[in-house]
Formats: sequence, structure tokens, C-alpha cells
Amino acid sequence: MQKYAFNSIYTHFFTRNCYLCSEISNKSKNYIEMIIEKIQELMGEVTNLQAKTAEEAEALRIKYLSKKGEITALMNDFRNVPAEQKKEVGMKINQLKNMAQEKINALKEAVQTEQTAGSAVDLTRTPYPIPLGTRHPLTIVKNEIIDIFGRLGFTLAEGPEVEDDWHVYSSLNFADDHPARDMQDTFFVESHPDIILRSHTSSVQARVMESTQPPIRVICPGRVYRNEAISARAHCFFHQVEGLYIDKDVSFTDLKQVLLLFAQEMFGPDTKIRLRPSFFPFTEPSAEMDISCNICGGEGCSFCKHTGWVEILGCGMVDPAVLEANGIDSKIYKGYAFGMGIERITNLKYQVKDLRMFSENDVRFLREFEAAN
Ligand code: DAH
Repeated sequence: MQKYAFNSIYTHFFTRNCYLCSEISNKSKNYIEMIIEKIQELMGEVTNLQAKTAEEAEALRIKYLSKKGEITALMNDFRNVPAEQKKEVGMKINQLKNMAQEKINALKEAVQTEQTAGSAVDLTRTPYPIPLGTRHPLTIVKNEIIDIFGRLGFTLAEGPEVEDDWHVYSSLNFADDHPARDMQDTFFVESHPDIILRSHTSSVQARVMESTQPPIRVICPGRVYRNEAISARAHCFFHQVEGLYIDKDVSFTDLKQVLLLFAQEMFGPDTKIRLRPSFFPFTEPSAEMDISCNICGGEGCSFCKHTGWVEILGCGMVDPAVLEANGIDSKIYKGYAFGMGIERITNLKYQVKDLRMFSENDVRFLREFEAAN
């Protein structure tokens, strides 16, 4: 390698504000040797660089690679290297620059991965934007039912899902050995005394009557349970709304008129109702109410089994024995009651063919009711 006496180029570098000039104190050293020494020194430094945070890594980039960084300054000096040395020195400077870039990028990546790994386990952070959910179709219909009866002066009452036999059956005139108990196969939580999952919301009637004196005008929505095999048409839990009205002069006509109004509010003003005699232990007389099928408009379709009518609820005049069992004087007061399944009403409104859809929490199904909210 051809050696250049420092003195021969010293003045030149000095006047051009050379990066190395400040370091050149030992005038006996050859300039090229000093550049190479500096490159080697920086290579050593770069290899051992460490950063704990993204800010530290960025500070290193600025120190070595920014416009005013040490490696950039070295590259600026490169133009002063005599042509014969350019290749050798150029290769070394490039090597240093690449090393520094790779090392600093690696440091940046490492701290970033560490930081993301840290935040990924921070489950306490709120994930913005918060996605808005939609109301469940059964809630939409339940609210609509509550709203219609609310306008008629009915207030809301609720009761427990885990109930004793008294409130679900005995106080409602189900004799211990009466076959009507078989109509609702029940889940037992405890026996003797029997604690069960309520099989209808009529238990809330009993709770309201035992704690309130008439006039009573309540609507009681809630979940009920029955021992049914799960299929498209039956489930082991579903939802009901119970209604109870007790006052001095209450007749079957009042019941019929209130139910007609409900049906027309719910399914449209052309809806017709019909009452068929039936049996429930807690009402006398009892009836089941059909509405004109709102899917085919009463013409007959597979939903109404080609009859033009669909059953939607049970109802009747509260049996005097039930009033008495719950502490209400049956010589002074009379009442009517009714109970309907929310799933059934929802099916009629939205034609959900499979009952299981209501409890599977499939967001695609639930999103279909966004507009009905
Ligand atoms: N509890 C009855 C059932 O689940 C429905 C019912 C019928 C409720 C007649 C009533 C009623 O209040 O009066 O099948």
C-alpha cells in the first residue's frame, strides 16, 4: 500500500473541516491508516451496541447513521482519499455502514417485539373502537310486549327462576297428584321439600298476589325450564310473559278485549283472534287464543298447518281457589290471567325456523336483527 505522508494532505483536510482532523494528534501516522483504524474502532463499537428501548435504538441510529452521524462523516471524508486507496477504504466503510444498519435494525426489531409481547398480555386495556352489539331478537320482542301492556297500565314484575313447588304449582291449584303437573316436566334442584327450575312464569303471579292487595295489573317476563329433548321445535329453556289483572269488576270480556288489542298492536290492525276452551288448573274458565296466521294472512300455509290460525297463548279467569290460596278475598275480587311464549311470538314476527338459533349466540344470526332494534 502506498503511504501518504500526513503533512502532504493535512492542510487540505484541515481547511475542509475534516472529521478525522480533530483526532489526528499523532502526526507521524499516515492518514489512510488512521481512517482504517477509525473504521475498525467503529466496527468494534457497532458490534457491541445495546438498546433497551425504541428510543435508545433510535439514538444509536442518529449517533452513527444520521446526516451528522459518525459513519456519515467518515463517508464524507471518503472523497479525499486518494484514488488508489478508494477501493480498499470504500469497501471497508461500506462494510461498516452495513454492519451498523443491520445491527441497529435488529436492535429496533428486538425492542419492538418485546414491547408488543408485553402489551399483548395486557388484557386490562380497552380495545378501541368498542364494537357495538345488537339486541337479541327475544329481547326486542319482549320489550315490545312490555311496551304494549305498559300503555294499558300494566307494570313489570319479576320472580326467581329457581323456585319452590308452592309458587310454581301448589298455590296455583295444582293438586299434588293432579295429572296437570305432567304437562310440564320439571328439573328438580332439591326434593322434599321440592326446589325446582320454574316451568312457567305463572309462579310470579303467585308471588305478586301473596305480597300485594288488588288492584293488581302486572306483566311478568322471564325464562322458564322444561325437561324437553332439544330440537328445532322444542328446547329445555325458553321465555314466557305472564299477565295478571285483579280488581273488583273484572269479566271475561275485559280479558278478550285486552288480548285483541295486544294482537293487533303486535301483528297489525287486521289481525283476528279466536278463543278455544281449554284447561289450566289456575283459571276457570280457561282458553287458548289463536291469531289469524300473520305469515299467510289466514289463507293457510305450512306454519299454520293450513288452518289459517296459530295458537299464541293460554288465558282464563283466575280460579277463586288461587285467589284464596294467595291471600286475596275471592268474594270481593276477580281477575284474569294469560301467559305466552316469547319464542313463539318472535317466530311469528320473524319466521325463525329453528328454536336453537335463539341460544347459539351466532353473531351472524343476531346481526340480522340490527334494523329491528
Ligand atoms: N302457564 C301456562 C303454561 O305455561 C300458560 C298460561 C295459561 C298462563 C293460562 C296463564 C293462564 O296465566 O291464565 O302453559
